[in-house]
Amino acid sequence: MTKQMLLGLGAAGLLWICAPVQAAPDLQDPDARAAAVEAQMTDAERFQLLHGSLPILEGRRPTAGFVPGIPRLGVPDLWETDASLGVANPFMLRKDDVATALPSGLALAASFDPELAFAGGAMIGAEARAKGFNVLLGGGVNLARDYSNGRNFEYLGEDPLLAGTLDGEAIRGVQSQGVISTIKHYSLNAQETLRNWTDARIDEAAHRESDLLAFEIAIGRGKPGAVMCAYNLVNGVYACGADHLLNGVLKHDWGYRGWVMSDWGAVHEVGYFNAGLDQQSAAQVDKTVWFGDPLKAEMTAGRVSRERVYDAVRRILRSIYAVGADRPVAETPVAYAADAKVARRVATEGMVLLKNDGLLPLAASAKSILVVGGHADIGVMSGAGSSQVVPVGGPATLIPVGGSTAFDTLVNRQLIVPASPLKALRAALPQARIDYDGGYAPVEAAARAARADLVIVFATRWQVEGMDAPGLALPEGQNGLIAQIARANPHTVVVLETGNPVTMPWLAGVGAVLEAWYPGQDGGTAIADILTGKANPSGRLPITFPASIAQTPRPQVAGLGLPDETRISVSYSEGSDVGYRGFARRGQTPLFPFGFGLSYTHFDHGPLTVQAGATVTARFTVANTGAAAGADTPQLYLVSAAGRPLLRLAGFSKVVLAPGERREVSLGVDPRLLADWAEDGWRIRAGAYGFALGASATDLGPVVTVRLAERRLEP
Ligand code: BGC
Repeated sequence: MTKQMLLGLGAAGLLWICAPVQAAPDLQDPDARAAAVEAQMTDAERFQLLHGSLPILEGRRPTAGFVPGIPRLGVPDLWETDASLGVANPFMLRKDDVATALPSGLALAASFDPELAFAGGAMIGAEARAKGFNVLLGGGVNLARDYSNGRNFEYLGEDPLLAGTLDGEAIRGVQSQGVISTIKHYSLNAQETLRNWTDARIDEAAHRESDLLAFEIAIGRGKPGAVMCAYNLVNGVYACGADHLLNGVLKHDWGYRGWVMSDWGAVHEVGYFNAGLDQQSAAQVDKTVWFGDPLKAEMTAGRVSRERVYDAVRRILRSIYAVGADRPVAETPVAYAADAKVARRVATEGMVLLKNDGLLPLAASAKSILVVGGHADIGVMSGAGSSQVVPVGGPATLIPVGGSTAFDTLVNRQLIVPASPLKALRAALPQARIDYDGGYAPVEAAARAARADLVIVFATRWQVEGMDAPGLALPEGQNGLIAQIARANPHTVVVLETGNPVTMPWLAGVGAVLEAWYPGQDGGTAIADILTGKANPSGRLPITFPASIAQTPRPQVAGLGLPDETRISVSYSEGSDVGYRGFARRGQTPLFPFGFGLSYTHFDHGPLTVQAGATVTARFTVANTGAAAGADTPQLYLVSAAGRPLLRLAGFSKVVLAPGERREVSLGVDPRLLADWAEDGWRIRAGAYGFALGASATDLGPVVTVRLAERRLEP
């Protein structure tokens, strides 16, 4: 045992260790250590860990949550901060506190790059620790079921394998810095409208094969210290009080060893504790501090067992020790310059080139370029809500959107990140004259566009937590602006900064379209790099772009316009056929499919072979047959299972290749993707399984069929 461990246990720990009758616990083992420390606690200390507070209400530093530690036992304070896209600073209450703003989750997902997800997580984790936080409220992995969802930008798209893999790596990255990461929002918080009053209805098999699978994959890979349960109900029961989801699926079936914390304001009764909720977050936001006196009373009355209280406390301690979150946190300088490089990599790798008639990369011969709209003169769009980061340099500007309450006024602000694409383009193309037009007078902008060699229009669609955006149209007349400009000058490039897919009624008239999502701290430079060809676009859509909202399972946002506190129910009747899977089943052609993205080079995929035994492994070659270095993302799809046609992403790989280079790729298939959920477990049915290699979900190569034997998997 090291000195540090002894110190971590405190004086009472020493006594305990010296007790002659006990075998010495293995204090490298977080479970043993958690049990040893928990055993020394008083009940008051135990209950202290079971609920947190909103620190600002207690005169502490403004952040999302705080749980006081127990110094005599070396249990650290838990300082919690939001952090999906960087260390957040709620409502800018921590004056002058900035952080590196990563691009949106959709940008990360579009990179299809697990290693980059890890790097992003490690970057946020290190900044969090340097700012004195040891719990990150990140890891959002809700699948994009509705393209109106105001928080899709925070999440990782519509596929459980892609979202779960990248989320797991991001969590691993955060925790590599000794900072606990959550995974959230468990489960089916798929819309923001009436999120506290929505009953998400889904059948068990469909849930296990979709949203729960994303959680299961991410938890298996990332081992997050905590799971944050969601605001909504699932099949009639609030997610934070759902015995089936918490005790059943999470803790029993998946053997989850960390703790479950509630979302802020999601606890409505003390009974949630027995259902598996371990900690009530920011308890002042709820009606009562349920996990304080009411929970003690339940224990005294025998309705909550002592063992259950010990279990909840041990889960919290276990995560602290497993992750190393008890290392003292002290504010230290942040490596902003190095961190900006990570943000730039995510932005660059995440941008998806959707159309290119040869306008890109921009010709060095372009003498006059007009940049229009999207605040491109000062920066790039970001998404709002609890994930909002105040970027290094502070906001370029804050555009008030407002609402009816003071809270709305604080949250509903479009924060423009100071990463101007205009400035970056001017720096990258010093020989060209580059003018800017705000785009507010389309006729005039079109007239100026006609006189330029080339036009780059920036279009934005802001999204905010707590509010969905019905439909798929760009707002504020931007479609009209783009159409007028494209009519005036067909050499028009459109750069989209959106938090969801959008429709493009002007698509045929423009020469190129780049989806840049919310590109974060160095987004302007990343856009310029891609447009000029300094970087070769390699992003692939992690979410389908529908041709119209009518193609989607719920063209109307459920409950939109209803007063708050109206209970609604949303039936996820598409089941596990989320996104592209549903498009395939319904035989619909989207505007741009899942997995799609262009490059400045060409890739060939060699013949696919599939080996089926105890595991299924696919092998093929990828060759860069063009003239530029670039990255390809070959995707393996399961196209039929036991003779039944379907479409599931079964594997993917990001392959960086020099011109002329060829690489052999081998992908192992997660057996859960071959299986269906059948009542009490995964079941692979005996029969023929078809696989195809794809450049997207709709651009598939020849099908290779193998036979699999009947097999049951552990849940
Ligand atoms: C959000 C969570 C967030 C929490 C704390 C809630 O409103 O749903 O994602 O972590 O607030 O800020």
